[in-house]
Amino acid sequence: NWSMKSFIETEIERIRNTVGPHDQVIGAVSGGVDSTVAAKLMSEAIGDRFHAILVDNGVMRMDECKNVEKILTQHLKINLTVVDASEQFLGRLAGVTDPEKKRKIIGNTFIEVFEAEAERLEKKFENVAGAGKFKYLLQGTLYPDVIESISFKGPSATIKTHHNVGGLLENMKLDLIEPLRELFKDEVRALGSVMGIDDELIWRHPFPGPGIAIRILGEVTRSQVEIVQRADKIYIEEIKKAGLYRKISQAYAALLPVRAVGVMGDNRTYEQVIALRAVETTDFMTADWFEFPYDILKHISSRIINEVPGCNRVVYDVSSKPPATIEWE
Ligand code: XMP
Repeated sequence: NWSMKSFIETEIERIRNTVGPHDQVIGAVSGGVDSTVAAKLMSEAIGDRFHAILVDNGVMRMDECKNVEKILTQHLKINLTVVDASEQFLGRLAGVTDPEKKRKIIGNTFIEVFEAEAERLEKKFENVAGAGKFKYLLQGTLYPDVIESISFKGPSATIKTHHNVGGLLENMKLDLIEPLRELFKDEVRALGSVMGIDDELIWRHPFPGPGIAIRILGEVTRSQVEIVQRADKIYIEEIKKAGLYRKISQAYAALLPVRAVGVMGDNRTYEQVIALRAVETTDFMTADWFEFPYDILKHISSRIINEVPGCNRVVYDVSSKPPATIEWE
């Protein structure tokens, strides 16, 4: 793709001119397409002077951290640090059931952890001969994010609230660098493809910053996280097997905070309910629930009930947005 190749060359040149020959850049990565493409571009431009940071918040998909680490380091050769902060996140989430409180806790803890890691890196390079200063913060902001923040929050608020790193920019005196800010999602995908990023990552469904904490209704605990992770893994696996992943815009399993009666052999069970969600949408502002063939739902349901301890019932969410939202919280 010629136009993408020339975009990459121009952008790399621009990054090199901005950052200069010695200075360093940090940026958070999540395993999503935007942050990965931005990180790959930065890494092509300045190599290991770009430091990607992946924060394990304890509410990611099953094995997500390990998988993302593998792709970014082994496959894409991005200079990555993984910070396991799951204890810290889950500790602060204990006893919290209000969805907005969960979001705030996760957002604030993320900033704290990221900031601490950035400062640690900065210190580490302070006395390294020839090493430049940490001057820039990479963000995978896309054009629609820029528009959204201009129309709703004013031009200075180009950072989405769930990644509000404004304090970081001030404390460390970092400047923002946003190489994707003129691109739409489909262009970012094309760009990622040209740079050698796997289709699997390029076409991933969006995943919210607060992760599965907002897909566990009620209190988030390690055992609740485990139940929903297991169910979600089976669900996504079967969607992919059926060839429906690309047709669906977003799919996930949620865990309801109620117990239902079931029967297993001669015994009654009293366990939780998994709710499956799958929607089709182009803009995520409105969405239709996805019409699965019944045999696929049947197979997914029986796998989840048989394979996931703690759950004896599966329901499928047939609510469109509006008035329902895509997430349950
Ligand atoms: P709703 O539930 O509002 O979701 O219909 C629309 C889209 O936004 C995502 N979403 C979030 N993403 N932080 C995020 O980064 C959040 O707090 C959050 N809440 C919802 C949701 O996954 C869907 O793609």
